[in-house]
Amino acid sequence: MKVSRRDFAKIIGTATVGASAVSAFGAEKGTNEQPLIQQQTSAGKFPNGFLWGSATASYQVEGAFDKDGRTPSIWDTFSKTPGKTVNGATGDVSTDHYNRYKEDVQLMKNLGVKTYRFSISWSRVFPDGTGKPNPKGLDFYNKLVDELLKNGIQPFATLYHWDLPQILQDKYGGWEGRETSEAFANYAGYTAEKLSDRVNHFFTINEFGAFVELGYRIGIHAPGLTLPPARFNQTRHHAVLGHGLAVQAIRAKAKKGTKIGLAENMTICVPVIETPEHIKAATEATRQMNAQYMTVIQEGKYTDLYLKKAGKDAPKFTDAELKAISSPLDFVGINIYTPQYIRADGSEQGFAVVPHPPSFPHMISPWLFVGPEALYWGPRHVNKIWGAKEIYITENGCSSSDIPAADGKVYDTDRVMYLRNYLMHLQRATSEGVPVKGYFLWSLMDNFEWADGYTNRFGLHYVDYKTQKRTPKLSAELYREIIARNGLA
Ligand code: NOJ
Repeated sequence: MKVSRRDFAKIIGTATVGASAVSAFGAEKGTNEQPLIQQQTSAGKFPNGFLWGSATASYQVEGAFDKDGRTPSIWDTFSKTPGKTVNGATGDVSTDHYNRYKEDVQLMKNLGVKTYRFSISWSRVFPDGTGKPNPKGLDFYNKLVDELLKNGIQPFATLYHWDLPQILQDKYGGWEGRETSEAFANYAGYTAEKLSDRVNHFFTINEFGAFVELGYRIGIHAPGLTLPPARFNQTRHHAVLGHGLAVQAIRAKAKKGTKIGLAENMTICVPVIETPEHIKAATEATRQMNAQYMTVIQEGKYTDLYLKKAGKDAPKFTDAELKAISSPLDFVGINIYTPQYIRADGSEQGFAVVPHPPSFPHMISPWLFVGPEALYWGPRHVNKIWGAKEIYITENGCSSSDIPAADGKVYDTDRVMYLRNYLMHLQRATSEGVPVKGYFLWSLMDNFEWADGYTNRFGLHYVDYKTQKRTPKLSAELYREIIARNGLA
């Protein structure tokens, strides 16, 4: 076989990209060694203007838990309850982002990210959950947004990333009470009104599938409840209702043209094998396994199967509520970490869940099974099933052991492996025309990982919690390369 010079360059280019990323990390600046990036073709590229970003959330990074009028959230209470988090960790200080946000914006700038997804602490803005706003609380986000824009980074704001004002838990049982849905809409409308002159994209709620399930059914996240099924299903309903009412409130109050969506960790149903019958089964499984959140939001009704399975414990709802819940969205955000394999079967529902065998590989968090195809199937389903035209991967990333080497650097080759493989599948999706417009890597830096405290690190930057020093990991270098190429590295 004859290999032309161009083919040869292509082969070499592909074979050495990994090495070039490593050498950039270890780089002695000023060497003549040229990375072979230039020799790559458009294969492996993302669409022009693809929004590369990173993400964090208020309680996980901010610290400053009692500054400028902030009142406790359910996570302050929960983390300070003995035995609830590993080593009794709390978010009191965390990465001190509240005071170091300018430094953190520089970390973003060095990565080359075009956008940043952060969340707003409700109890900074409304210390009583509702009623009188606290301008000092909002001020932090004004400053953060201005700093981002000054550095050419687009802010994407999440309004609820789990830190419910404790007062609403005490008064209404948190999301178990419809009053919380209404208070959320009020806070969302107010905040969007104040920020939408500079923030164009708002997410209402982050991960119904985590905070409701873990917080109100399993009890391992705040507020630590294990409600019986009927009350629990009603809580699910109030969470999606809060989302819908918030969409309406933002539309009414925010600057015209403001875009609204959500960031949901829907179950990502991956066909065990890509045959028409398994794909069909995975498609139906996507609707049914997300019935309580994404499906009702997209379709304006609970599926018959969901209501049938819930029986007498099904949520109580009105048509007007379903209408609010399914208020049209401008975009859909999905947090994707791990796949759920699905196969076709002869049952009434037409699909079966295939559990992960014990040998299935996972990252250091035991739940984080490695299935890169999830990043292809997730957005593809959302586009094919519900017709979403603007999709963001609002979180993707992984936990690693992240032990600094003798030279002080963190060679997180496992995260590099994870990201490369997942992004290959995202690229497959965009190259097939699935309208994914951006990707937010979780997370910009190590932070408070909820009940796991500070044990599981997800950051591109290693945080030394004693000194607050941030050090880019090898994966940060990889990400910078990917962003610079707008393609795989
Ligand atoms: C999703 C959550 O939104 C985020 O808060 C969490 O840290 C990551 N998953 C990793 O578990």
